[in-house]
Amino acid sequence: MSRTDRNRKVGSFLAFAAVIALLLLLFPAVEEWVRAYLKDSFGLIVDGDSGAVSTTSGATPDKITTTTTQIFFYLLLILKIILWMALVVGLVRFFRQLITRTLYRNSSPGEISSIVKTILSVIIYIVSFFIVFQSFFPNVQLAPLFTGSTIIGIVVGLALQDTLGNLFAGLAIQADQPFQVGDVVTISTRGVGVVEAVSWRGVKIRTFNNRLLMISNSVLGKETIEVAPRDNLNARAVWFNSLYSNSPARTIQAVRDAVRQVENVSPKIRPVVRIRNLGDNGIDWEVKYWLEDYTKQNDTDALIRLRIWYVFQREGIDFAFPTRTVHIEPKADDIGHDEVLNMAVERLNNVSIFTPLSGEEIERLANASTSRVYAPGEAIVRMGREGNSMFVIIRGSVRVQIPDGEAFRMINELRENDFFGEMSLLTGEPRSASVIAAEETEVLQIKKEALKPIIEDNPALIEAISEMVDERKVLLKIKADEAASETEKDRVGVMSSIKKFFGLK
Ligand code: CMP
Repeated sequence: MSRTDRNRKVGSFLAFAAVIALLLLLFPAVEEWVRAYLKDSFGLIVDGDSGAVSTTSGATPDKITTTTTQIFFYLLLILKIILWMALVVGLVRFFRQLITRTLYRNSSPGEISSIVKTILSVIIYIVSFFIVFQSFFPNVQLAPLFTGSTIIGIVVGLALQDTLGNLFAGLAIQADQPFQVGDVVTISTRGVGVVEAVSWRGVKIRTFNNRLLMISNSVLGKETIEVAPRDNLNARAVWFNSLYSNSPARTIQAVRDAVRQVENVSPKIRPVVRIRNLGDNGIDWEVKYWLEDYTKQNDTDALIRLRIWYVFQREGIDFAFPTRTVHIEPKADDIGHDEVLNMAVERLNNVSIFTPLSGEEIERLANASTSRVYAPGEAIVRMGREGNSMFVIIRGSVRVQIPDGEAFRMINELRENDFFGEMSLLTGEPRSASVIAAEETEVLQIKKEALKPIIEDNPALIEAISEMVDERKVLLKIKADEAASETEKDRVGVMSSIKKFFGLK
């Protein structure tokens, strides 16, 4: 309800109460006029307290005249009581609106106060009814009605068992405030929907099929309820799958970017794309994202699936069909062996140190090499380990790093057509550094046995590699010294602070 609506309501209740009050003020005058009229026209006198009817002449009036006059005055009395009750109703409503308006101005009190409001109104009505009734009929005892009769109490109690159950469960829910109007709730056996109203009888929930679900408070009190609060970033997961032949790193990147652009996906938290399972048909994925408006969960899920389909098309990623794909493994010769070999030859031709080699030697080397793919963050070579192969980067990039205290110090970054792992291979020393894939990286691994005959025939190759190894060792030493001196500096720094603290020289 808008502010102007609320103001209008306050005004109309006040006007209503004012009209009734005016009528009540006029009432004694009307009564007086009726008495005067009866006296002048029919010679009848009606006693104000007892209601007894007599005549001006002193004669007893006949029974019909007496009864009719008394009924008429009773009707007047009932009308007066009704007017008083209407005044009470008008005033209660006026004050209720006034309080609500003030509360809304400061903050939104939510629907939660509705039960309390109803109970308060009922109490006020009952008390007012007592006061008004007793002031007109002081001789009638109403109190024993409520206190005296145990049987009535039991009968009413039994009749109201469910209603009272709902009322108290409702009060417990309101005291707890597990949800508010506008929250999305999932009630185990009943469904999902948006809370539309909370009353003393139950909760109204609008399902996503636009149906209204009324659940009584006493039933609700026994259910397990999952609440997605309205002012909260609630998460959801959408599942999809891809073929094993598609790169997981590329899939993660593509889906994450696509989901981020979907409207209603919160830009505050980055969507998480992760592997749920390595299934029979392919990789099972889930993308977890956070919604701005949880009531639009189904639409957002659908939009995300749609975007995944498009991004898969653009990126050449395939969905794994929910079928069992039977792969008949072809013979090694059949699977484009030539293609793979040509690609390896092309790559090795681009590597600077292999320029002294003949075409036939490069082909021999390519034949003996194996392609390997690493995920971002995976170590291809670990410092201190033994190594008997070297690697040429075909795709991606790597970080060469050495330990620096608790952390790591990057000493170089290598990209496509660069090589690494040659130091251990040639010198037999342990790996001088760790080499980590910075992104999804494909390398050609060349084993010692494959390189040995080629090195023997090509002294120029040894020269080229040695030069490179020398350069790298220099840089490695510089970086290692830097790390060591910084540690030393730290140590001296700590020592001098301690000395200073204790006043030592
Ligand atoms: P290896 O010692 O077998 O294993 C670690 C590898 O890191 C090493 O061979 C080199 O290939 C590589 N490496 C070491 N230092 C450097 C550097 N300064 N620049 C580039 N690569 C390096």
